Amino acid sequence: MNIGIDKIGFYTPKDYIDIVELAKARDVDPNKFTIGIGQDKQAVPRPYEDAVTMAASSADSILTEADKASLGLLIVGTESSVDESKSTAAFLMDLLELPEDIRSFEIKQACYGATAGLQTAYDFVSQNPDKKALVITTDIARYGIKTPGEVTQGAGSVAMIVSQNPRVLKLNYKSVYMTKNVGDFWRPTFSKTAFARGKYSNEIYVDFFKTLWEKYQTKYSATIDDFSTLLFHIPYTKMGTKALRTLEGKIPDDKYAELTEHYQQSIKFSREVGNLYTGSLYLGLLSYLINGARSGEELLMFSYGSGAVGELYSAEIQKDFASGIVSENVLKMLNERKKMSISDYEKIYQIEYQNGTIVDPEAVESKFYLSEIKDNERLYKKNK
Ligand code: HMG
Repeated sequence: MNIGIDKIGFYTPKDYIDIVELAKARDVDPNKFTIGIGQDKQAVPRPYEDAVTMAASSADSILTEADKASLGLLIVGTESSVDESKSTAAFLMDLLELPEDIRSFEIKQACYGATAGLQTAYDFVSQNPDKKALVITTDIARYGIKTPGEVTQGAGSVAMIVSQNPRVLKLNYKSVYMTKNVGDFWRPTFSKTAFARGKYSNEIYVDFFKTLWEKYQTKYSATIDDFSTLLFHIPYTKMGTKALRTLEGKIPDDKYAELTEHYQQSIKFSREVGNLYTGSLYLGLLSYLINGARSGEELLMFSYGSGAVGELYSAEIQKDFASGIVSENVLKMLNERKKMSISDYEKIYQIEYQNGTIVDPEAVESKFYLSEIKDNERLYKKNK
């Protein structure tokens, strides 16, 4: 049975900051941010947006009534959840009007959470072939104003429906993975912003890729000629470049050139949005599907979540992949965003709703929003 991704939806907030303006405000050479880090814009969420509202938006963009009726599993991968007990998935039941006979939960393992969700969804559909699974990545990446990590922030959500006979991507279930207890990036429960040993995390990420690629070749007698595209976890786009570069000189030049060209197509959206944490690899997939993919291509996908878990797995682009993505909507969303000044971004960044807050619906620009915090409980609404 073929199982994989049947549809992909995406959401990013309507506001962004320009990375050159951020560089100037921080007295940094803009080339460091645009070339050295590899970013152009960064999504800025409003205070009434969070992991729940963004997840609702990306899923809402693809779910039909027929999908809802056949859903048996809902998994949210996030490291930006709003509650230590209740999962982001449970909040979505009302917002998305989902039927209650669904198994649902949240997975946390830094940026790896959605990949764990996808593999779990694969197993679920293989046991329940007439059912579908919804896997959602949703995150707000925050390091803090004037920190080295500020340029690698971002926000957004990617939703994927997993089913048999998928239109977009068949998961081959060829996969290698590894876990190590590493202190490269962490966010204690008391903190809204992450802590990172940035350069160390880059080293671990590249080491994981190298180790997993060795393992994959050994386990499956594979060579680089089996793949035309490598997709990477891209919290910022220079990072995938570093992993890709480990192959330079070790594979034929024309193969390296092909992989590099495809990598550039896969990072177009991330350059525009920034870091999606759990969604970074899957925004790369969406970008590649819209900007470069051909049916029948074999992909190798590198997922990495600090702390750290890595997985390298293969997948095949399906014949009708374009029918599982609404490209016009994705491009419209990206193109119709508004630029925010750096000073407005700094002001919005500081706002944190407290218990008792009631949000004025007239001031809300997104379809789903945090409407109120009452008795310390976050309540959400859908804009009609
Ligand atoms: P930094 O100290 O600001 O920058 O930290 P740098 O000095 O390392 O420079 C960055 C690059 O810009 C370098 O290139 C410079 O040469 C280049 P590289 O050596 O990397 O190829 N550069 C220039 N290029 C052109 N013109 C110039 C110029 N000047 C310098 N004028 C760092 C950068 C990313 C470490 C920092 O932003 C940071 O700590 N970010 C947050 C942590 C992070 O994103 N780490 C990445 C890995 S962690 C990870 O993947 C986990 C994550 O996904 C979360 C999760 O799993 O949950 C984030």
